[in-house]
Amino acid sequence: MIPIAKPMLGKEELKAVKKVFDSGMLAQGDIVEKFEEKFAKYIGVDYAVATTNGTQALIMAMHCLGIKGKVAMPSFSFISTATSALAVGAKPYFIDIDERTFNIDASKIKGKFNAIIPVHLYGQACDMDTIVKKAGRAKVIEDACQAHGALWKKKKAGSFGDAAAFSFYPTKNMTTGEGGMVTTNDRKLAERMRLFRNHGQKRRYLHEYEGYNFRMTNIAAAIGLVQLKKLPKFNKQRQKNAKYYDKHLEGVETPFVLKGATHVYHQYTIKAKRRNALLNHLRSNGIGATVYYPIPIHKQPIIHSKQKLPVTEKVCKQVLSLPVYPGLKRSELRHIVETISTFW
Ligand SMILES: Cc1ncc(COP(=O)(O)O)c(C=O)c1O
Repeated sequence: MIPIAKPMLGKEELKAVKKVFDSGMLAQGDIVEKFEEKFAKYIGVDYAVATTNGTQALIMAMHCLGIKGKVAMPSFSFISTATSALAVGAKPYFIDIDERTFNIDASKIKGKFNAIIPVHLYGQACDMDTIVKKAGRAKVIEDACQAHGALWKKKKAGSFGDAAAFSFYPTKNMTTGEGGMVTTNDRKLAERMRLFRNHGQKRRYLHEYEGYNFRMTNIAAAIGLVQLKKLPKFNKQRQKNAKYYDKHLEGVETPFVLKGATHVYHQYTIKAKRRNALLNHLRSNGIGATVYYPIPIHKQPIIHSKQKLPVTEKVCKQVLSLPVYPGLKRSELRHIVETISTFW
């Protein structure tokens, strides 16, 4: 089976982990700090605060920004985009997507809301100029969990909002096993988050603020440091694989990249007629194609929204993601392209 995703881990990561093992300093420490510094620099922001996963990164950012009330977001995303708002006592308010990019349709951002979460879905950055303008005084929290290294114009996704959340789950463009990060230029927010993730203590056993344990380990950060160094090469290879598909795929709609956006292809997502039949055909030919996401968030039982989102409801029946990870062999890409051709 060609999987939908595969983490690219090697000897360098193993060596970095062994060094942490030998040091005995397994929990959050100087390696996490170094990872935060390098990640902030890479994204082009002043601060990065590491945590346990992307979901927690979203929750931590919203909690420490004091978000309450209505939070605008797309419904075509992973569930965490919305449940993180629920976790801080806010209410998701859904905005339909652009049929071409699958990202939030900036022209449909209307009404009153206290915060907005644009999601850079599948690795394509949103039009952040329009979103930030439309947000007005509402806080902007980017969900960059799928967009490590994606650009809007010349700036990285994760550098536009009041805060942005990243995930380092093993399917992502870079991984730490499990892990997350919040990026921001707001010094006070960064300080609040550092306290929030560590029992609200500035000094050991003096708890002045609300806080819990949402710390990243030195082990995860050691992997992250190596992966961050490799990320530009990983993304280039993903883009190369995407180009191969763009050129050779037949009978399907290949991804559209908005002018000004640089896509890092966390997923290579096509639109296809008879989507479910094509999915079964691919699976029975040893290809781990997957649908992200078959049920939009506003239709999930936990959310129970009565909002109507015609584009989202249409697109979720058409999309199909193909393996695009950097380790794919040319012969595997060829097999995937040929399998789709034979289907038609
Ligand atoms: C868009 C989006 N938001 C949030 C998350 C949550 O990240 P994690 O799985 O690290 O909690 C993910 C991860 O799959 C995601 O894709």
